[in-house]
Amino acid sequence: MAKEELVISLDIGSNSVHGVIAKYNEDNNKIEVLAGDTLFSDGIKDGAVIAIQEAYKTIGQILAKLEKNQEGEITKKVIGIRGLLIEVSSESAGVRISENDTEVRDDTIQELVDKIEDVKRISDKQEIIQIIPKEYVLDEQCVQDPIGMEGEYLELDALVVVATKTNMTNIRKAIDDESPLLYYGYNSVGDVLVSKEDKELGCVLIDLGGMTTGLVVYIDGKIKHVFELPMGADLITRDIIKKLRVSQKEAKSIKEKYGSVLEELIEQDSEFEYTVAGTRQQKYTRKQLVDIIKPQVDLQIDYILNSLKKKNIDIDVLAGGIILTGAGALLEGMAEAFEKALNCVTKIVNFTEDDIIADKKLVSSQLYTTAIATLCSEYKNQILIHNNDNSKSSSILSGFKKLLNIVR
Ligand SMILES: Nc1ncnc2c1ncn2[C@@H]1O[C@H](COP(=O)(O)OP(=O)(O)O)[C@@H](O)[C@H]1O
Ligand SMILES: [Mg+2]
Repeated sequence: MAKEELVISLDIGSNSVHGVIAKYNEDNNKIEVLAGDTLFSDGIKDGAVIAIQEAYKTIGQILAKLEKNQEGEITKKVIGIRGLLIEVSSESAGVRISENDTEVRDDTIQELVDKIEDVKRISDKQEIIQIIPKEYVLDEQCVQDPIGMEGEYLELDALVVVATKTNMTNIRKAIDDESPLLYYGYNSVGDVLVSKEDKELGCVLIDLGGMTTGLVVYIDGKIKHVFELPMGADLITRDIIKKLRVSQKEAKSIKEKYGSVLEELIEQDSEFEYTVAGTRQQKYTRKQLVDIIKPQVDLQIDYILNSLKKKNIDIDVLAGGIILTGAGALLEGMAEAFEKALNCVTKIVNFTEDDIIADKKLVSSQLYTTAIATLCSEYKNQILIHNNDNSKSSSILSGFKKLLNIVR
């Protein structure tokens, strides 16, 4: 019997790497996550490799843990990338569909993608990671999916994700694979976790990470922007360290265990103990902790609002509101704080057991959301885009068709 094909998906995070190993369960058309692991790394910062030996070590450890006890063959590695070394810009291009055969086919799309690559002038220090279609226009009419349609002229308006070559080379080196499939993590998350309805209504997906916050804006059902802000939930931890004079580990644990953004959510205040400067025991209450957490969250919400304004996005007209994801969203009161500050509907999204086959704990932690979403992007392409071996075109073309059950 042929060995089962397994795929590893890694999410290179703010200062850690989250990874899952999975297979495609054909019986129910779902991804089955077999194991997940997450490790902090001194070699990774804001999605980039800053110390190759450290990063190589961490990633090696994660891969070994994921592969342990698995029967099957790892056929590919999929990487969700992000970080400040990545730039996203908007580009458009058009192609004339052949005179004899006016049907839009895969190769018409490929031609368009090649044109977009030509239009987007990159330096020899950069590489294109992904082309995310925003909108197709077939003979001046907007269409969702042009394949199979008849027409004369097809245009594509797309977001082009560009990364610095050196960083990508370091990532490839660290995972010991020269041609992993690369996806822009935030886009993958939006693709699978934001419902069609919310996209139509207009909404902003906000991925609250440790030191990065990713934003994906949808208007009229289409993706408009994807960008990242250099801040995150680790800054709350930092404020707790400063105020309580505890270790980073203790501050993180205090935040996750007792933290809340809003006082009104704490029905009955309670005390907890912590160790000051590694020696004395001190007591603090959950309500007192709100006074450390809330100012930082307010600052970050303000920053988000201002950066949306700079892009001329008026949150008041986006009826789908705010959609939160990322482990930072697990802090009690985070959604309520956004709702209150921005006066719009806010919800937290994540995969559910209906979407994928996986351990319940692994799914609910939010730690693997990006890694799983990136996997979905790849499976979607693998199934739909000609099943070819050309990893570049299959990843570059991502996002114009959907098949897996997960797509909301
Ligand atoms: N249960 C929780 N409650 C509150 N915050 C949490 C929880 N779990 C993780 N976090 C916080 O989420 C942040 C990490 O988010 P994550 O999405 O894993 O980061 P990244 O994607 O940037 O690697 C950290 O600041 C961590 O303390
Ligand atoms: Mg995350």
